[in-house]
Amino acid sequence: MATKVICIANQKGGVGKTTSAVSLAHGLVQKGRRVLLIDLDPQGQCATALGRNPEPGVFHLLTMGDSPQETTFVRSWVRTSGREALYYIPGDQQTMAAQTVLNAQNQPISAIRTSISRFFKESLHYIIFDTAPSVGGIQERAVWASDLVIVPSATEFLLSDGVSMVLLMLSILQEKKEWRGKLLGILPTFYDEQTPESAAALDDLRERFSSSILSPIHRATILRECAAEGRTILEADPLCRAAKEYQALSAHVMKF
Ligand SMILES: Nc1ncnc2c1ncn2[C@@H]1O[C@H](COP(=O)(O)OP(=O)(O)O)[C@@H](O)[C@H]1O
Ligand SMILES: [Mg+2]
Repeated sequence: MATKVICIANQKGGVGKTTSAVSLAHGLVQKGRRVLLIDLDPQGQCATALGRNPEPGVFHLLTMGDSPQETTFVRSWVRTSGREALYYIPGDQQTMAAQTVLNAQNQPISAIRTSISRFFKESLHYIIFDTAPSVGGIQERAVWASDLVIVPSATEFLLSDGVSMVLLMLSILQEKKEWRGKLLGILPTFYDEQTPESAAALDDLRERFSSSILSPIHRATILRECAAEGRTILEADPLCRAAKEYQALSAHVMKF
């Protein structure tokens, strides 16, 4: 079985990357898939969103070689989340140091793909990367390591320039670095059709990136609350609209 790798990316912060990574991971698990979520953001919020603590797992994943001892050590950082078949590798501030190491060693664009290849024989259906809002080495290598990329974009104001920047990066990686993956779609988040700004922002996204726009995730206060409590939306309120939207996103992702 081939493990599909998905990257959640946008150079802007606060657009729903972590929320989408965690909710999608849990949504896929609830549909019977085995998922490894990897937190590439030094803020370590994947762990907290799952009710766990940030730890330097990703630092070791990104800086260890592939000897049997190193692989055993890296594997020891794969954490169970308390949800069946949902595993994660936590990140914390040390991830910034991993970025420095990758760049100082002049590691190739394929470095993260190589790092995660040790998990390809573990009957995982998906590996999902949550990424930091920065370009500086890790994000490009994470995209390159991925088969599919989802770009969350907050539809509060006309913010879609962040989207253009990611799409530019994707096309450069395809053209210059022989990246074989593709954009799965742009995910409008914080959508609220009651506010003119939000509706205009979604129209703008549709106009500019028509076919790539996924069904929006509505603004939902409970998403913020449940993340603070360490519960995913699918356990906090599985019947609410945002939960249904993330379930639909999970079903959509499974078609690729
Ligand atoms: N659809 C939404 N409605 C309301 N709040 C949201 C929504 N998506 C995310 N949030 C909240 O907004 C904040 C930023 O979201 P987050 O997923 O952490 O963004 P990023 O990872 O891109 O920085 C978090 O507090 C999160 O709980
Ligand atoms: Mg985040």
